Amino acid sequence: MDLTARPRRLRRDGIRSLVSETDLHATDLVAPIFVDATTDERVPIESMPNHERVPVDDAVARVEAVRETGVEAVMVFGIPESKDERGTRAWADDGVVQEAVRRIAAETDAYVITDVCLCEYTSHGHCGVLEPDAESDSDLTVQNDPTLDLLAKTAVSHAEAGADMVAPSSMTDGMIAAIRTALDDAGFENLPIMSYAAKYESAFYGPFRDAADGAPAFGDRRHYQMDPANAREARREVRLDVEQGADVLMVKPALAYLDVVRSVRESFDRPVAAYNVSGEYAMIHAAAENGWLDLEEAAHESLLAMKRAGADLIVTYFAEDLAGRL
Ligand code: PBG
Ligand code: ZN
Repeated sequence: MDLTARPRRLRRDGIRSLVSETDLHATDLVAPIFVDATTDERVPIESMPNHERVPVDDAVARVEAVRETGVEAVMVFGIPESKDERGTRAWADDGVVQEAVRRIAAETDAYVITDVCLCEYTSHGHCGVLEPDAESDSDLTVQNDPTLDLLAKTAVSHAEAGADMVAPSSMTDGMIAAIRTALDDAGFENLPIMSYAAKYESAFYGPFRDAADGAPAFGDRRHYQMDPANAREARREVRLDVEQGADVLMVKPALAYLDVVRSVRESFDRPVAAYNVSGEYAMIHAAAENGWLDLEEAAHESLLAMKRAGADLIVTYFAEDLAGRL
């Protein structure tokens, strides 16, 4: 046999890890947590096994549990005690995220990232100020420019509460510039922004919208979140955020958009984040509960693929489950 190329030689036990191209560490992961101002008790999230909404009083304990696994960063989402047309509880000094972050920052060493958006705080569930005839014209729901100031105020209030990084997710044109300027004006020049830069209008957010109670009351998010058909447009979206001062560039969802992760990695010189979203988590759990997939193996392989595609960090609901085996 004159077969000279035998890739199998490098797949034996002793050599495998020496030639491995991709590593996954607990310190690459960010664990989302849900803090709920409407409850005094922890509430399991049905469509996201092992996740729960915790009352503000339990926020520190929740973060400590994450830190014990070796995961160092959390992304905080809030469910406010009340909602209104403009989402005023999003930037309230005594809002649910502000209260939770104040305690987490004071009592833990976690790196605290906050999601900056209005959909959990508005009575209509959209990510900004409504257009006057939004309900009849479902193709155009949110006014862009009046939303910018509300996002900026929200980001500053998170920074004042002690957030280490803010992550705006509303896909408002100009949001990074508005938030950067407001943070700088308030003295937070050193606080980085992780932009949800290429965020698609995705069916994979379903479980999250139950978890955070952020589903739109009517219409959808098609005119602000991206069309899943488009990849060139993702580079354009990301470029705008880079020009406006984004420090970390996120692609969301992750698994069905690894081409976009790769493209952002190659086209820009900023760290890339992938958001392994709620639907991706729920799918693997559902299959595993049926005995059709091995949960840990499938989750690990998914996250490894995100890193292979070019992600530096991954926001994932699997963070705690997997940290122990990394
Ligand atoms: C808020 C926000 C959403 C997610 C993160 N931030 C929901 C949405 O845009 O509808 C989705 C997270 C997930 O599905 O895990 N804008
Ligand atoms: Zn939103």
